[in-house]
Amino acid sequence: MRHREEHGAGCTVYPTSSGPLLGVLAAATAARRILELGTGLGYSALWLADAGAHVDTIEQDEIHAALGGESTKDADVEIHVGTGADILPTLEPGYDLAFSDGDPVEFETDLDQFERLLRPGGLLVSANLFLGQYSADVEGLEHAAVYRRRLLDETRYTTSILRDGLALSALR
Ligand SMILES: C[S@@+](CC[C@H](N)C(=O)[O-])C[C@H]1O[C@@H](n2cnc3c(N)ncnc32)[C@H](O)[C@@H]1O
Ligand SMILES: [Zn+2]
Repeated sequence: MRHREEHGAGCTVYPTSSGPLLGVLAAATAARRILELGTGLGYSALWLADAGAHVDTIEQDEIHAALGGESTKDADVEIHVGTGADILPTLEPGYDLAFSDGDPVEFETDLDQFERLLRPGGLLVSANLFLGQYSADVEGLEHAAVYRRRLLDETRYTTSILRDGLALSALR
């Protein structure tokens, strides 16, 4: 991707392969408020906002946040610049849908916050749960393992993990 060449070696941003699926889930759940962790360059936020929801999306990288803001400027998308760990505790509960697409290092505290922020019956969509299949060097893989176990074991969730490591979890 041209942006990654320009941004430099540390940049790992890539658009989700699940954009249309996110659009379907947002439309089918009639979501009005959507939370996203990991704006990237704004592709997934556009799909999440497509059926008319307001999207609050969090991005720690200021360059990505600026580019994401440019690509979503005509949609109902609000970008919060910072880490999930810093921003999630500041948001008001009542989200219909949350999409997690960040790095695994803070997954466990993010999950605590998604539980606080989603309404009962809300939908949590979690990406990057099988990152270890691409590289054993990904920082924080152990947090992804705990996150997966919580989604599968805790009775408050009904979860299905799709083959590419995207989990769909209904919160009771
Ligand atoms: C895979 S990209 C997101 C792609 C985007 N969701 C899309 O599909 O178009 C991951 C992004 O999340 C950001 N990110 C990763 N961990 C984060 C965290 N803990 N808090 C905030 N942003 C994070 C990265 O800077 C990167 O821009
Ligand atoms: Zn970048």
